[in-house]
Amino acid sequence: MSAPGLNVIGCGRAARTLAAIWQRTAVLETIAILNRSAASAVAAAGFVGAGKAVSDLSQMAAAEFWMIGVGDDRISGVADALAASGLLRPGDIVFHLSGAHGSDKLASCRDAGARCASLHPAHSFADPGRSLSAIAGCRCVVEGDNTAIDALRPLVMALEAVLLEIDPAQKIVYHAGMVFASNYVVALLGDALTAVGAAGIPESEAAELLRPLLLGSAANALEYGVEDALTGPIARGDTTLVAAQLDALERILPGVAARYRALGLAASAIARRADGADLEALARIEALLGRERG
Ligand SMILES: NC(=O)c1ccc[n+]([C@@H]2O[C@H](COP(=O)([O-])OP(=O)(O)OC[C@H]3O[C@@H](n4cnc5c(N)ncnc54)[C@H](OP(=O)(O)O)[C@@H]3O)[C@@H](O)[C@H]2O)c1
Repeated sequence: MSAPGLNVIGCGRAARTLAAIWQRTAVLETIAILNRSAASAVAAAGFVGAGKAVSDLSQMAAAEFWMIGVGDDRISGVADALAASGLLRPGDIVFHLSGAHGSDKLASCRDAGARCASLHPAHSFADPGRSLSAIAGCRCVVEGDNTAIDALRPLVMALEAVLLEIDPAQKIVYHAGMVFASNYVVALLGDALTAVGAAGIPESEAAELLRPLLLGSAANALEYGVEDALTGPIARGDTTLVAAQLDALERILPGVAARYRALGLAASAIARRADGADLEALARIEALLGRERG
């Protein structure tokens, strides 16, 4: 028996990775791919290893599964166009990949008889080639119609991922957590690289200098909890060092200093919860970090 068909509208970094894995594991057969540009659809079909690159919705045929992998702001518009196309059959599964939005963005497809869901792989698809194997073990956070969620279960299994259901009303806050853990860690690393660069460390050394600290701290925080993982001047209540560091940053890297203050306050809130916290020292540090530069 042949695998159910998959049409992809918006086959960018995330969608092409998923489609390629489903194609390789033979759980779905990619039929057609529609992107904004024809060249991009051809490239996506090449990556997936299947699927006809098309340049308009009218060139697509029926499929059991429709994956909408466009950026979040475009999901509703694409869903409306799909619902109006007459291509959907009752019971077809339509899903998008946004972490922030629920399947209500697909309301027009639901009204057209499709079963709808959102499926958010908690994975960063910066490099789809790498994601093909790196996605294994990630959580896929889903919500939507029960029939659609059940239809997505074997797809999640084929990714070697784990399905986790969520209340759609909480997706926006859930996604803020993802932004902190993924995008803001990258932003934070940008500041770390800027600071060590300003200290004269050659760029060629910076990654290896920071790698064990970054990965070790992340591993410790996830394994032991943030209170036990926090080390450094704020955890030690070292007011003098924090004052000197802030002063240096204000002079050399004022933009970085603003984030040092904000994150220092967040670190101090964690330090307060640790066993044996020096609350008086932490109060002095918080006053220092919260004080406007005079
Ligand atoms: N990237 C991640 O790490 C990640 C992780 C989890 C979930 N997601 C979710 O996955 C979705 C896509 O993100 P992404 O990073 O994969 O985006 P992306 O790489 O920018 O890909 C978006 C794709 O949509 C196509 N597109 C845009 N407008 C279109 C339209 N009107 N009709 C047809 N195709 C259209 C683009 O075509 P062109 O190539 O021609 O411009 C592009 O191929 C988002 O909802 C995002 O939240 C992303």
